[in-house]
Amino acid sequence: MGSICRSCNQKDTEMIENRGATWRSVVSLAVLLCIMAQLPHSCCRPPSSHGKPFRDIAEEVAGYKNVAKKIIDLAVYGKAQNRSYEKLAAFTDTIGNRMSGSQNLELAIKYMYNALRQEGLENVHLEPVKVPFWVRGEERAEMLQPRNHTLAILGLGSSIGTPKGGIEAEVLVVESFEELKRRAAEAKGKIIVYNQPFVSYGETVQYRAFGATEAAKIGAVASLIRSITPFSINNPHTGWQDYQEGVPKIPTACLTVEDAQMMTRMAQRGQKIVIRLSMEARNLPDADSFNTVAEITGREHPEQVVLISGHLDSWDVAQGAMDDGGGAVISWEALSLLRDLGLRPRRTLRTVLWTAEEQGGVGAAQYYQLHKVNISNFDLVMESDMGTFRPLGIQFSGTQQARAIMREVMKLLQPINTTALEEHSEGTDINPWMEAGVPGASLHTKDRKYFWFHHSNGDTMSVQEPTEMNLCAAVWATVAYVIADLEEMLPR
Ligand SMILES: *[C@@H]1O[C@H](CO)[C@@H](O)[C@H](O)[C@H]1NC(C)=O
Ligand SMILES: *[C@@H]1O[C@H](CO)[C@@H](O)[C@H](O)[C@H]1NC(C)=O
Ligand SMILES: *[C@@H]1O[C@H](CO)[C@@H](O)[C@H](O)[C@H]1NC(C)=O
Ligand SMILES: *[C@@H]1O[C@H](CO)[C@@H](O)[C@H](O)[C@H]1NC(C)=O
Ligand SMILES: [Zn+2]
Repeated sequence: MGSICRSCNQKDTEMIENRGATWRSVVSLAVLLCIMAQLPHSCCRPPSSHGKPFRDIAEEVAGYKNVAKKIIDLAVYGKAQNRSYEKLAAFTDTIGNRMSGSQNLELAIKYMYNALRQEGLENVHLEPVKVPFWVRGEERAEMLQPRNHTLAILGLGSSIGTPKGGIEAEVLVVESFEELKRRAAEAKGKIIVYNQPFVSYGETVQYRAFGATEAAKIGAVASLIRSITPFSINNPHTGWQDYQEGVPKIPTACLTVEDAQMMTRMAQRGQKIVIRLSMEARNLPDADSFNTVAEITGREHPEQVVLISGHLDSWDVAQGAMDDGGGAVISWEALSLLRDLGLRPRRTLRTVLWTAEEQGGVGAAQYYQLHKVNISNFDLVMESDMGTFRPLGIQFSGTQQARAIMREVMKLLQPINTTALEEHSEGTDINPWMEAGVPGASLHTKDRKYFWFHHSNGDTMSVQEPTEMNLCAAVWATVAYVIADLEEMLPR
């Protein structure tokens, strides 16, 4: 995941949890009233908005128990065991990182296109889009006072470079935007170092996204931002940042948690800090890229679609194994598993491997613009972009009627203990569809360590586990298949 728009996710989650609690108490009150009135228990179930009563849909879903078992057996215990891990390892070891606009991303797209075709998947094709093209170039940050020290940094996507020879300036260390405002009079001509504590990704990423702009507004010449991570072994994390129209653009990079904390200590002692920053970063004209598509065409309603997705692009450090090679590969593997079992659902299962997610869901936004004309035929949109670790369940956005059906579908995953259906589907790339009312689902895994590695040199195959990816692929394939095969589309 890369987009900054998730900004509000902390507050959202809290709100949704509260709403969840309210809903739960409404439900338990309703149950109580039913019991008191000695009405049949089914009175409390959400009604279907379609012709078919919920009770019948629940029965229909339960009929997939054996199919789900087959998918799980193949992915977790059978001949497809470890296949998604092997696919991901071969892909990331061969191609490496895949930055928007880079030749590597082009190679990655060709690699996937060929692999999907070789497997005999249907309607494999590329859909052209225009993507941002930022290049890092050489970059270096040296502390000159109070002592000589090389700072590990990573420039931020869309940052401009420094003039040749770099920028040498005194540092102002702050721990929040509030402190920056309070000390605005001290900022002119300085390099702002943000040493904000990590609260949550959604909240703290504001500093990476807007740190340069806020510093430039009060006359700073560059900004260095503590990496957005809850854990560090002195490694910097990159990511996208946004300039604001009408505000001067200044160079900006992330530094390590350790160096940011050290500078706070130095400043508290009253030591003068001087840094020389040089960055060759450049923004080039938008480049040509592609969303990569493969399908199992529906047998009864080929025009209706369940979309399964992850993004192929990554940052230019490490291998992008976890962000989001894993999500892309399980979205491919879901089709492979169903093809191996000879399962062709009523509706089309469409895998889309997005491009330029890290620049703000750029490939997906163009896909939405092109395909929204058929929005009434999109049954469910799915995205995995928070790592393919041990799956915990599915996060879902949709009406209460659709949620009730999804809850039944999740029961099919009992054999691998992944039956949880949670609130609030997340995903930069499926957001446009969800905002327009299409039900959305995202994979929730045991992602406690995700932001340790995110957008850093730590995002390699070594953080992935074959057995965990087997489970992810099984969840992904089962949910996608059953929804695509039900008699009716999910209600909206
Ligand atoms: C799958 O990976 C696990 C964990 O590394 C390993 O124990 C198992 O033998 C592998 N299975 C196959 C078929 O390679
Ligand atoms: C610190 O670096 C500067 C410039 O690179 C150099 O001139 C100076 O000798 C260094 N000082 C020490 C103590 O190494
Ligand atoms: C919309 O759906 C129709 C019917 O399936 C299809 O022929 C057409 O190509 C689709 N348009 C787009 C832009 O996807
Ligand atoms: C699911 O839970 C059961 C009971 O706790 C356990 O026996 C089984 O190994 C678990 N399965 C997986 C795939 O984790
Ligand atoms: Zn991602």
